[in-house]
Formats: sequence, structure tokens, C-alpha cells
Amino acid sequence: FEVTWDASAADKGGWSSFMAKEVSEEPEAVAKTVLGRVRDGAVVIPELDGLDELFAGISRVVVIACGTAAYAGQVGKYAIEQWARIPVDVELAHEFRYRDPVIGPDTLVVSISQSGETMDTLMAVKYAREQGARTLSICNTQGATIPRESDAVVYTHAGPEVAVASTKAFVAQITALYLLALHVARVRGSMTAEQIARETHELEAVPEKISTILEREQERITQLAGWMADTRSVLFLGRHVGFPIALEGALKLKEISYIHAEGFAAGELKHGPIALIEPGQPVFVIVPSPRDSTLLHDKVVSNIQEIRARGARVIVIAEEGDASVLPFSDEVLRIPLAGALFEPLLAVVPLHIFAMGLATAKGLDVDQPRNLAKSVTVE
Ligand code: G6P
Repeated sequence: FEVTWDASAADKGGWSSFMAKEVSEEPEAVAKTVLGRVRDGAVVIPELDGLDELFAGISRVVVIACGTAAYAGQVGKYAIEQWARIPVDVELAHEFRYRDPVIGPDTLVVSISQSGETMDTLMAVKYAREQGARTLSICNTQGATIPRESDAVVYTHAGPEVAVASTKAFVAQITALYLLALHVARVRGSMTAEQIARETHELEAVPEKISTILEREQERITQLAGWMADTRSVLFLGRHVGFPIALEGALKLKEISYIHAEGFAAGELKHGPIALIEPGQPVFVIVPSPRDSTLLHDKVVSNIQEIRARGARVIVIAEEGDASVLPFSDEVLRIPLAGALFEPLLAVVPLHIFAMGLATAKGLDVDQPRNLAKSVTVE
């Protein structure tokens, strides 16, 4: 009799890596974060009971975080501004307290951290409190230091994340920010109950849609990543909520495949980055749905035409049925239909799969990339 498995493999539940396991858990990470926080179409976060006065009284929100969590914050800004009608600034935690920021009792400082132990973020939270700001932590680790140092906490329920590069925690962070935005929108009366119910319904439909992407596209994306194992640079373009997703796609690739990657706002292309385009340059483009804004959609499609004309190899992430991108794309990765603000929760999934596929094709350890730590507890 021979034991053919080892303990660490068992922890991975049969997956080749923790990252593969954690990407497969993205639907669950969203679903579990929503669980218990939606009642009859309304978002009521029990942890925020008794804070209505705080939410009614603030005049601005500052989101602070590092790495992937900061990109979740950038996505959250669109939702908080659109739904709760409060101005939001998103700032890297390590920049925040070194520039004499204008904050006070009318500022809600929202920190986002998977580990809850990132020193840069913790120090920024402490600084914000000293300046009299109110603090709310979005965190994936029960009882961690950052939530303990904050006035309130909304936990993400992604479950333990082991791989250094964050995946399921990222979608859970966006989910928590959306729940927070809808909770505050109710308190402040910036949306009607029907409007809130419509968005809540969309949010509840996200896990199923992520599962669809994993089922339908994972194999093809992994194969595509395998063909691109020798690539030296990849660019990512997005607009609106697709912009932070482009940044996240680039970060993931840098982190685990050590390939030079950059994310840009598609509208910025003509102001500089287009000079980088030369024949064969791979570019991922996240295309917004034409159903929400024809204008935005058409502008991104024209960006695609511009880079294609210069020889770029264009890999498009677009919603099912959008045929406008077909003539100008080398590959089209499909995501299910969703409301505009929900597209990032879907568009990021192919990018996580791609980064993982490419690193694997290069024979790298996707869970433990060189030079990086899961939790950075020094400043
Ligand atoms: C480290 C990790 C990143 C992570 C960042 C923030 O740099 O390598 O993957 O995004 O910290 O971590 P946190 O735990 O605060 O979300």
C-alpha cells in the first residue's frame, strides 16, 4: 500500500495550485459575501446597524488600500458615486498619510485589505483616526488588526486565500463595496427601493455568471496563455469600471508570470501609450456593453481599430452577442450580459485565468511568486 498524496496537495482539494482552487471559488466568494445582507431586495448590512447617522452625515469617502485591494477600491468608487451620490477618492495607503490630506469628521475612510495586516494600510487607518475621520474596514480576515483599529467593519467572506496573488478576495472586495454603496444609498435616500432592488438582483446573479465563464472559457484562455508563453510584454486597456480591471489584469501578470505588463485607460491611448504599439504586441481590451452606453462602447471599439491598424494582436473581452468587435479581434473572450457596474466582476475572471495559465506555461510557481509576500507587515 502506497500513499500517493501529500498533505499540501490535499489542502488544495485536488487542484494543481491554491490559485487554481481560489479562482474556481470566485463565484462562491461573491455569493457568500452577499449572503445575509440582502432582504426583500434591500441591502441591510447587520454589522452597520446603528451607523445611519454616520452615513447620513459624511460628505466624502476616501478609500485606502494597496495592490489588488486598491483596484477593487477604484471599481467601488464608480458604484459609491453613482448610487450613494458621495464623492470618492481612492488612494494608495502608503501615499495617503505623507501628503497632509484634507480629512475630518465628515470624511469616511474606507480601508480595504484581504489580510487586515498590511502595515501601509494599517498606518493610514491610524492616521485617519488621529485626524478625526470615521473609519470602516473591508477585510477578509476575522479579527485582524485593521478591522480592530476601525470604527466599523464589513467582512468579505471569500474564505482563506493562500496564493500570494489575490483573486477570489478581489471579487469579494468589489462585492462588499457594492453592498456598502447600496446600504448607504438606502440610508441617504439617493435611490428608490425599486432601483436598489434592481441592482441587488444583478449582484445576486453574478456568481452564476462567473461560473459560466469558468465553464465555457477557462480551457480556451489557458490554451491561449500557453501559446503566449514567450511574450515579453502585454498591454491591457479598459474604460470606466473596465479601467481598474485593466490595471488588475496587468498586475496579476507581473506578479506571477514576471512579464512586463501595463494597464491603461482606453481614452488615454492617444495621449501616449499608442506609441508602444508595434506589430505583434498583445493587447487585451475590455469592451463595455453597447446596451449601457453606445458612446463608450463605440469609442473603445474605435481604440481597437486604431491599435489593430498598427499591428497589435488584439484579445477582446466582450459581452455575448456583441458582434461589432469580431472584425478587429484576434481572439474574443465572452462574458455573460450584466449591468454596466457588474461587468468588472465578470471581466476580471478571464484575466485571472490568463495570468495563471501563462505562469503555469512558463513553469513558474503560481502560488509563491519570487520576491512577494502574501501579507506585507512592514512599511
Ligand atoms: C501584498 C500582496 C498583494 C496584495 C497586497 C495588499 O502586496 O502580495 O497580492 O494585493 O499585499 O494586501 P491586503 O492583504 O492588504 O489586501
